[in-house]
Amino acid sequence: MFLDPEDEKILSGEKGETRQRMMELLVALGKVFGAEYLVRIKSAQVSGASYKTIGEHGLAWLSSLDARAVVPSVLNPIGMPRGRWEEMGIDPDFAAKQQEVIAAYERLGVRLECTCTPYYLHETSFGDHLAWSESSAVSYANSVLGARTNREGGPGALAAALVGKTPFYGLHLEKNRRPDVIVEITSGDKNWSIAHYGALGYHAGKLVGNKIPYFRGIKPDPDQMKALGAAMAATGAVALYHIDNITPEAKKIGYNLSGLEVISIEPAEIEHLFTEITVDAVAVGCPHCSPGELNRIAQLLEGKTVSMPLYIFTSQGVIDQNLKTVSSIERSGARVYADTCMVVSPVMERYPAIMVNSGKALAYVPDMCGAVARIGSIEECIAVATSQSS
Ligand code: F3S
Repeated sequence: MFLDPEDEKILSGEKGETRQRMMELLVALGKVFGAEYLVRIKSAQVSGASYKTIGEHGLAWLSSLDARAVVPSVLNPIGMPRGRWEEMGIDPDFAAKQQEVIAAYERLGVRLECTCTPYYLHETSFGDHLAWSESSAVSYANSVLGARTNREGGPGALAAALVGKTPFYGLHLEKNRRPDVIVEITSGDKNWSIAHYGALGYHAGKLVGNKIPYFRGIKPDPDQMKALGAAMAATGAVALYHIDNITPEAKKIGYNLSGLEVISIEPAEIEHLFTEITVDAVAVGCPHCSPGELNRIAQLLEGKTVSMPLYIFTSQGVIDQNLKTVSSIERSGARVYADTCMVVSPVMERYPAIMVNSGKALAYVPDMCGAVARIGSIEECIAVATSQSS
């Protein structure tokens, strides 16, 4: 693998032991995947931030590092809202450990913006090379924005943050971004909610596995694409998809689809996922809510009071830009929390059944929270959360 003089200096240890270890990791990754060189990245998004997922071993590893990020770098959601963990009912011992993880990342120059939707806070453009690790963020960056990132593991993304480069292989190469299966949504009611697109992703991810699907027959908006991609990355390993006439590469490149396998999905195959069960809590914001989603929730909650816990998850940056909307939501008794989410926070483990509007959460909540999950639209989620109030 070709390394330029600056890379060689880092590898020799001239720029410190941590950077040397990080460069060794990047070179090893590059060799495994056949990268010819390292490409400069615009930003990094680092997973492995919740103490619930990395534990003591991960914390010890982070604490052993000593360098600063050289490109804008943010964190994936952590196990608690930094400013409101007591109110959320987080165990003080867990909070103390989570603070240690955050402090370790802060020392490494990673911004304490803990979100799976960094694209709402930092401009990410067509053709940008990135080293992002959260699967829904990777899917959105590649598919909706036309940026280029592999699905990095936490250490790989952190190494890229500290070095400013990542191995040039996989989805960084145009030739690896071509679709290899067509997913045709047959006629039917396509007036779908965000949750329907999440359910479509839940179903399609199981069918396409790690292929790059090219969808025909749907016209999702960006929030719906966010839900579609997040769910496909959860039940499959889809890091990039295209949608006919919608996503930037489908429009700009105009792929030749002849000879590709075609998978047909009927709307009825999605509908059966919307089973009604009694739930103990409702959680919205997987991936983290956009300003538009917060507005819709505020409208639906106007004049209502929640009758069960209603959690809304988003980033601190989106909260800061939408303070009136957030306080309007919270007047109902719902809580809008930053930095964390329904899957990585231990708090959600106290509920036996949780309603979500996300195909990804539908896939993850049973294993990660030990709860039964029900999916419904935002409208249905709010109706359930306020069902005994007028
Ligand atoms: Fe984001 Fe947590 Fe869902 S990290 S995509 S809100 S599982």
